[in-house]
Amino acid sequence: RVSGGAWLLGYPLLPLNLSLLPQCILTGKWKNDLDSNMTIRNVTDKGEFSGIYYTAVTAGGSSPKESPLVGYQHLSEEPTFGFTVNWTFSDSITVFTGQCFIDEGKEVLKTMWLLRAHADNITSDWKATLVGINVFTRLPSQK
Ligand code: BTN
Repeated sequence: RVSGGAWLLGYPLLPLNLSLLPQCILTGKWKNDLDSNMTIRNVTDKGEFSGIYYTAVTAGGSSPKESPLVGYQHLSEEPTFGFTVNWTFSDSITVFTGQCFIDEGKEVLKTMWLLRAHADNITSDWKATLVGINVFTRLPSQK
């Protein structure tokens, strides 16, 4: 009877507790260490997603505008993922790959990126790719 009572008491609390825990869900708004923002829309049951990226910095000096992104994630607790940003204001492309972690109770996206700039000719190919890292944290939801 005692264990039955404990189960009955505990059971209704379980969904509430789960919903309060960070879960490494990519959907939502994120900010990185450069102050860039991105919004990821719903992730499909195949792990596909799309969204919008707003970069705070540019390589070529042109003023940034919202740019589309598309990507994939694995469907797991701390998923690996990758996405491509097609910059609307330059002829560059950036690919990001990374993993979502729960770190000290908060979701964090640890990523690396490659930015491919347009090279005017094949001789300039060697200097057309930049590499770096970015760390994203979730933007607090605004009301
Ligand atoms: C360009 O300048 O041609 C396009 C914008 C590139 C912005 C880069 S992508 C990697 C890094 N992370 C960011 O959030 N912004 C820069």
